Amino acid sequence: MNNFKHLFEPIRIGPVVVANRICHVPTDISSSHRDGSVSSRDIHHHEEVAKGGTGLIVVGATSPNGKTNRSTVTNLVIDDDSCIPGFARLAASMHRYGAKCAVQLQHAGRQAALPRDGKIASNDAAHSLPWSQSRDIVYAYADEKVKTVHVLTTDEVIQIVEEFGEAAWRVMQAGFDAVELHAAHGYLLSQFMSPYLNKRIDRFGGGFENRLRFPLAIVSSIRKKCGPDFPVIIRYSADEWVPGGRELAESVEVAKAFENAGVAALDLSQCIQESPGAGFDPMQYPEGWTLYASEAVKKAVKIPVINSHSLRNPEFCEQALAEGRTDMVGLARQILADPYWPLKARQGKTRAIRRCISCLTGCWQESMMAKKEIACAINPSCGNEALAIKGKAERPLRVAVVGGGPGGMEAARVATERGHQVTIFEKTAELGGAILGCCLAPGKDEKMKWYADWLRYQIADLGVEVRLRQAPTVAELRDFQLVVNATGAASYVPEVRGLKEKVVPFEEAIACPRVSCEFHPKDGRKPRKLEGTRVVVWGDHYAAVDTATYLASIGKEVLIVTDRKEFASAVEVVHMYVAWKRFRQTEAEALTSKPYKYPVTVHQGCHIEEIGEKELVLVDRDFRKKTLAYDSIVTCWTRPNIELLEQMRAAGLPVTNIGDSVAPRNLHAAVREGAAAGMSIDAEMLFNPNQALIDGLPADVLGQLTR
Ligand SMILES: Cc1cc2nc3c(=O)[nH]c(=O)nc-3n(C[C@H](O)[C@H](O)[C@H](O)COP(=O)(O)O)c2cc1C
Ligand code: SF4
Repeated sequence: MNNFKHLFEPIRIGPVVVANRICHVPTDISSSHRDGSVSSRDIHHHEEVAKGGTGLIVVGATSPNGKTNRSTVTNLVIDDDSCIPGFARLAASMHRYGAKCAVQLQHAGRQAALPRDGKIASNDAAHSLPWSQSRDIVYAYADEKVKTVHVLTTDEVIQIVEEFGEAAWRVMQAGFDAVELHAAHGYLLSQFMSPYLNKRIDRFGGGFENRLRFPLAIVSSIRKKCGPDFPVIIRYSADEWVPGGRELAESVEVAKAFENAGVAALDLSQCIQESPGAGFDPMQYPEGWTLYASEAVKKAVKIPVINSHSLRNPEFCEQALAEGRTDMVGLARQILADPYWPLKARQGKTRAIRRCISCLTGCWQESMMAKKEIACAINPSCGNEALAIKGKAERPLRVAVVGGGPGGMEAARVATERGHQVTIFEKTAELGGAILGCCLAPGKDEKMKWYADWLRYQIADLGVEVRLRQAPTVAELRDFQLVVNATGAASYVPEVRGLKEKVVPFEEAIACPRVSCEFHPKDGRKPRKLEGTRVVVWGDHYAAVDTATYLASIGKEVLIVTDRKEFASAVEVVHMYVAWKRFRQTEAEALTSKPYKYPVTVHQGCHIEEIGEKELVLVDRDFRKKTLAYDSIVTCWTRPNIELLEQMRAAGLPVTNIGDSVAPRNLHAAVREGAAAGMSIDAEMLFNPNQALIDGLPADVLGQLTR
């Protein structure tokens, strides 16, 4: 089938013909060896992306000097000729499936993850950016250390130009089709180019020409070492979203300067590290919000322009290409969430595409920021080949999944794909579980529904038996050979004096009334109207953030009370950066949506001691008391639902527990554990002494246990 004509049209970058308009824009998967050499995980990941049909794959941030900078603790390094064989294998793994490939060369500068101290910079401001992988480890009981930066001398800048040239030559030698320079996001080249960040007084600082001197010198060095036919692509930020930073008008001039210098294509991005909202686009950012930039730049240059950020739907991308708003669509996280996006689009299987929900939990918070390898919250096999479904189980089993939330649905999906016969029991009138709590949270609603619907359609397409409005008994579950307990968590009211009955569960406060949703149980979900204007949201974590943002968006004056030192510290950091801006009634970068009617106030480190008719008594960590007037109060305290689990264990049923019924965490944990359960269901059905279901035992051990 030949769907999406424009998406699958070839394009030329310099002399290189790319088969389609889809570019996997650079994504550092931080999966290399400690010395930065190519690992089997690097090969596997990029090979899979190529298999999925992406036309141009730009391998993420690769250091031209591994000693002075690593963007993440295990990013790729190409600072020596001995790196070439590994990169040659990497290129071959992508060429095998028809992709063209490039390596992005990056000097991480002040934002390097390594070295931890003495990072290189254009000038001497030391920064603490909580959402940056350069942030030093903040130990639980100590504040972050003050860091120093090493300001480059003019001679050292020239030395780095040489290092980039050498690295590009190695990229070419390894068989890659092009090289890309990372001049975006506040890293070293970007710092030199930025009117906001570059405070140098030598020939590399000051006016437009001086600020471009460093990247242009690198382009010239690469062209000398690799020849004019080896394409150089440059990635830079079209808008920096800080006062005094580069804006679109200057970025158009930058584009012209790069084209004149022989650059073969431009890869437009957004932000510097001081404006993370625009750079990491959390869920609040709508699809296609950056297309204004490629539209403007395309008018000024003839070389191809790649544009990215929050592009998710093939229909949308096709339209953008058809209207000439960009020459190529760049997908970073989307390819992590579903590397087969191009193949599915080409074959018209768009409903099967697992669209990235921009949650940043798997690929940022719990990988790069945590100094770990790549992961994706909704694609368990991203960065973990062991969770890729490779074949059927030896013997099909009858499996019950109790709870139709994301973890339960993922367990059911994986187990069914592997040939098991699965029944989902869901006590409410629809599948979705905790995701349904996001339906009303502004910014999250659309994307969380994408994922909920993807799972619900997969369950329907696979023919999984679903028993809605059913909470099974232990006796009923005896009919199954295994039970996956995915009963999730629910709100409760902690110990408190006074009128406990006034407290509303968050599940009722944010129940979505949109009957237009095809999965809405027309008679089953009833939102509760909250009295008055001043609403206290009591609790922490995702439930409290979503409840607070929804209530603020409908004109309530929200007061959050949390016993934590910092509200929602376990929620993904860029989302909280944007959320805090909105709580304080300031616009986040590039977002135009209306701020709330009232600012949201947050009382941290406090507990509610007593609930009165119209007032609450709060106690802080120093036992100081204060009263708070309120009209309604909502609890967002959650705890696992384990009643049935305990009954099953007491009755000796084979059961494995996953997701929030282990402990309330996030979508990533639920989906990963669901997938792992689905993968572990095998004929042997063995549990180890930790109550964990185990599979893949060596044949001799299995024999010893069963003889
Ligand atoms: C895990 C991760 C790694 C990234 N690594 C790089 C990188 O190495 N180089 C780069 O220019 N941008 C990097 N980015 C930014 C992406 O290329 C992209 O600009 C951003 O994620 C927004 O686009 P998307 O919505 O398609 O993901 C990274 C983003 C993520 C989430
Ligand atoms: S973890 Fe979230 S943001 Fe990252 S790729 Fe997966 S779905 Fe997208």
